[in-house]
Amino acid sequence: MPVSVVVGTQWGDEGKAKIIDLLAESHQVVARYQGGHNAGHTVVVGDQKYALQLVPSGVFYSHVMPVIGNGVVVDLPTLFNEIDTLESRGVSCSRLKVSSLAHLIFPWHQAHDALSESSLGDQKIGTTLKGIGPAYADKSRRVGIRAGDVRDAGRFKKLVRARALDEQKILAALGGEQLNVDQIVEKFVALGKRLEPYVADTVNLLHQALGRKENLLLEGAQATFLDIDHGTYPFVTSSNPTAGGACAGSGLGPRDITRIVGIAKAYTTRVGSGPFPSELLGDLGEKIVDIGHEFGTVTGRRRRPGWLDLVMLRHAVRLNSLTEIALTKLDVLDTFSTVRVCVGYEVDGTELHGYPDDAQVLAKVVPQYVDLEGWNCSIRQVRSFADLPPQAKALIELVEQHVGVPVSIIGVGPERNECVVRR
Ligand code: GDP
Ligand code: IMO
Ligand code: MG
Repeated sequence: MPVSVVVGTQWGDEGKAKIIDLLAESHQVVARYQGGHNAGHTVVVGDQKYALQLVPSGVFYSHVMPVIGNGVVVDLPTLFNEIDTLESRGVSCSRLKVSSLAHLIFPWHQAHDALSESSLGDQKIGTTLKGIGPAYADKSRRVGIRAGDVRDAGRFKKLVRARALDEQKILAALGGEQLNVDQIVEKFVALGKRLEPYVADTVNLLHQALGRKENLLLEGAQATFLDIDHGTYPFVTSSNPTAGGACAGSGLGPRDITRIVGIAKAYTTRVGSGPFPSELLGDLGEKIVDIGHEFGTVTGRRRRPGWLDLVMLRHAVRLNSLTEIALTKLDVLDTFSTVRVCVGYEVDGTELHGYPDDAQVLAKVVPQYVDLEGWNCSIRQVRSFADLPPQAKALIELVEQHVGVPVSIIGVGPERNECVVRR
């Protein structure tokens, strides 16, 4: 099992980090491949809870080399805050490597994010306002500044000043936030200096690790339905969280990948705007939010709750070539007398075959549900599939039948060991 990918199968916050932390024990490298500090990845180790935005979730093991891959957009103030916080809590980040090819986020990216969201009014995407979209836009426009640029401090300073002066004019014309160019240059020159020792040719490092027959884990942020190509466009992020993005964002080739684990919550949540067929607007939704603590790790926003949607999950299996599913937060449903699962979509009384390619259609589908009996007991102590209540097993079997891949891990609580691992 040399290279595994972990990918979200819904709209994010599926509990990816907990599963990555669990799997990292048997891996020597954990690499992020896309996204940036829009991610909020929670790892609970004993009585300690950590919220990671940029540092890979394998950082808690001293045998793991954490890598920020070339596909990530890196906000340096956040990265160093995170490193300082982790180190002050006794977690060493000295093994961290940042790809020389990763693009950096600058204050003008955040200013553009805010400007674009405010101009959209009630049509806004509901971004995390971290500058993610504008940073990827600059990468595509080929005007980005990359981590490797800090290796030549004089040139880096000139690059930052030139871009800051350009953006100062653009933002002034658009009525956006004014930039203090000198202050930005001074701040980023210092940050660049601090970044330099972490910068590495990570593509080469990952291939060297493969050559040593080490196990590598590629950590997805966001999720399949937030993918810029395959998600509910325009209510998406600006990268490719789907498994294909793991190759582009790490420099490993498609044939290197052997295991692709899709993370699905036993229900669904979404932060930000956009269609959500199985959304629950009433008291049952409130109950999921309360019990599941469904508030954003990064922005604190309430996550929109809904039932598990197997139409989406089946599509995620195809888009990502999933070899298996980890079904998380099953314990959150412990007190529900009925558990609903969406197994089909209808539009105007006609059943749709598969997941629609049009977000407008998705917005008006009528979900078709199967109602399962709840198990009405706590499963947090359960550690083997055989010990799960029959009603919980029935839910897992329904998932497997519908999507055609095994559910190999079941989350029964937030902590590292609160899992049922089936193989
Ligand atoms: P990520 O972005 O996919 O890594 O997920 P987040 O960390 O944003 O959100 C998942 C939340 O659920 C975190 O607070 C986790 O500690 C918690 N969590 C993960 N797995 C489980 C589980 O199986 N049961 C419960 N109750 N909580 C879980
Ligand atoms: P993790 O990795 C949930 C959502 C935002 C918004 C849309 C675009 O913790 O699962 P962006 O700032 O990326 O331009 O926002 O994507 N979003 C997430 N939702 N979990 C995340 O990350 C997210 N990262 C971005 O809420 O709807
Ligand atoms: Mg999250």
